[in-house]
Amino acid sequence: MSKANRKILVTSALPYANGPIHLGHMLEYIQTDIWSRYQKLRGHECYYICADDAHGTPIMLKAQQLGITPEEMIKQTQIEHEADFAGFGIGFDNYHSTHSDENREMASKIYLALRDAGHIKTKVISQLFDPEKEMFLPDRFVKGTCPTCKSEDQYGDNCDNCGATYSPTDLINPKSAVSGATPIMKDSEHYFFDLPAFEDMLKEWTRSGSLQEEMANKLAEWFETGLSQWDISRDNPYFGFEIPDAPGKFFYVWLDAPIGYMGSLKNLCDKTAGLNFDDFWKKDSDAEVYHFIGKDIVYFHSLFWPAMLEGAGYRKPTNVFAHGYVKVNGEKMSKSKGTFIKARTYLDNLQPEYLRYYYAAKLNDRIDDLDLNLEDFTQRVNSDLIGKLINIASRTAGFITKRFDGKLASNIDNDLFNQFTAKADTIAALYEGREFGKAMREIMALADVANAYIAEQAPWQLVKDEATQAQAHEVCSLAINLFKVLLTYLKPVLPTLCEKVESFIGVELTWDAINNQLVDHQIAPFKALMQRIDPKHVEQMVEDSKQSLEAQAPVVEEKPQVNHLEVDPIAPTITFDEFAKVDLRIARIAKAEHVKKANKLLRLELDLGGDTKQVFAGIKSAYAPEDIEGKLTVMVANLAPREMSFGVSEGMVLAAGPGGKDLFILEPHQGAEPGMKVK
Ligand code: MSP
Ligand code: ZN
Repeated sequence: MSKANRKILVTSALPYANGPIHLGHMLEYIQTDIWSRYQKLRGHECYYICADDAHGTPIMLKAQQLGITPEEMIKQTQIEHEADFAGFGIGFDNYHSTHSDENREMASKIYLALRDAGHIKTKVISQLFDPEKEMFLPDRFVKGTCPTCKSEDQYGDNCDNCGATYSPTDLINPKSAVSGATPIMKDSEHYFFDLPAFEDMLKEWTRSGSLQEEMANKLAEWFETGLSQWDISRDNPYFGFEIPDAPGKFFYVWLDAPIGYMGSLKNLCDKTAGLNFDDFWKKDSDAEVYHFIGKDIVYFHSLFWPAMLEGAGYRKPTNVFAHGYVKVNGEKMSKSKGTFIKARTYLDNLQPEYLRYYYAAKLNDRIDDLDLNLEDFTQRVNSDLIGKLINIASRTAGFITKRFDGKLASNIDNDLFNQFTAKADTIAALYEGREFGKAMREIMALADVANAYIAEQAPWQLVKDEATQAQAHEVCSLAINLFKVLLTYLKPVLPTLCEKVESFIGVELTWDAINNQLVDHQIAPFKALMQRIDPKHVEQMVEDSKQSLEAQAPVVEEKPQVNHLEVDPIAPTITFDEFAKVDLRIARIAKAEHVKKANKLLRLELDLGGDTKQVFAGIKSAYAPEDIEGKLTVMVANLAPREMSFGVSEGMVLAAGPGGKDLFILEPHQGAEPGMKVK
């Protein structure tokens, strides 16, 4: 294997500082931790960093409810989060907060760079406002009756009952979830990041890396629908960073959240000699940067974030790895069923490495959801870890101690040992490619081989006879050597078990020493390394989960429905004279055809009753050329011609709708003639 030393920065998504860590979150932190521990085990320079995501309306309001400042609340939450992560053996190199000086500086710097490069625009928009609380209301903080199915008490973005998505202004009888007041519409100037300007770059970035297939498909869909301006400002009151050149306006939490990856690294660099921030983030950096995230936040990480980085002059991530959602017993985690299990509740009842192993055994490189079936969890862990793995040592180590003064034999059977070490490259590639489930299967298949060998040799028989003492010694010594190889393979997944094993066999488990045999080597007396899971503890955990969440309010997350199409706000008023300048004409679509390499455009030849104009129209997602050839439509005939990479566009056709398939060109009634003026 090549041993080039890589420089790698790894992140997990930053958990919100208004709720506890649960076993759904833990999938991500365990997955990332295994991957970064693997990189370190291979001798690469790898840093795994994270932070609490501390800003936003839900956090501000929760602190108000608790009667404390947001600063106090996020501080307390961070202490709990860090304790939970430590409990699961998550080996962050740094854990910080987005509410930090480093992050404030980075966010301002990036914003100002974007502004100076012309990527920030402002626009007055009208939104629901709580007149009692005197604050604008995010969608999730407006409740009312669903306009589609009429079910009551639904959120402002989508209906839990029928699944409809809508804008909060569509709700029947909307009420502020904060004060109960009826919201009013109010204007305010907002700051927008010009995401559409980065479309070409994003497409290029999508193609250049090796994105997961599901992610590439999702991106293709979003490109088809078209990218929109991204609203990055929020009005006072808001818990976040004030925008440097806009007093009273704050960065939307999702602007400074990913910058928090940089803020946390900066914090680490400031306290680590020789570690340099720019080495990772400067434009031409040769370090690798990977973000591990859940499938719900792909949009933020694969569109907004790379575009922000590009616009502000930084390098983009090497890759973004998304995983699916954890279900418990085949269903969404449920508070009433006791399957919404907090990390702390788990740790109060069970050993962390059971879960680390179970998740590893079920993880792959895709975005599928993962079922934590509690019965299967108990069986799988008991059978693999105790029944197969630990068994290798527990059946053989005792003889070494009792009969051979704790010393391994001076030679062992190379064939079997080599068969085990020969798997190193395969297992390495599976770790590297996040195919942890396959890696665990390879390792357990070897454990089966080891157990079959021990059973066949039956050292407990061999020791009884003086003539076969030496053979018993060799068999047990080989078993301990095989155990060492397997534990080295498992070190990224089971660091605590490996620590115990290291003190038992008296050597550090390193990948480089995989081929080193322990011969004539002293080991410590064997102590139980891991207990079986007692199903009672699993039941108790479920019971505790029912109780501990009874009295708690739900945690509101700041995650807009990204597929939900926003209705464009009405543009500022224009005078009649300005309107009269627009020359709208009836046109006949004389010809329609595809444009090579253009995903959204059709080339149209429009007949204006004598004059013919060529127009490139972004309607390909909704119409095939043959659907519209011959039809009448309406065009802006006096638009200044625009040079496009495909040719000159000499006007525009009018279409309405949110986009994608739902886009409708205007079709005048029969009787209208090409060339007629629309008044
Ligand atoms: N604060 C944002 C992330 C900002 S990153 C710049 C956020 N926080 S979160 O607390 O809601 O989620 C943190 C991570 O946990 C996300 O990647 C999310 O997908 C993941 N998970 C949350 N619930 C999960 C499951 N039930 N299953 C698997 N992962 C889950 O999003
Ligand atoms: Zn509904």
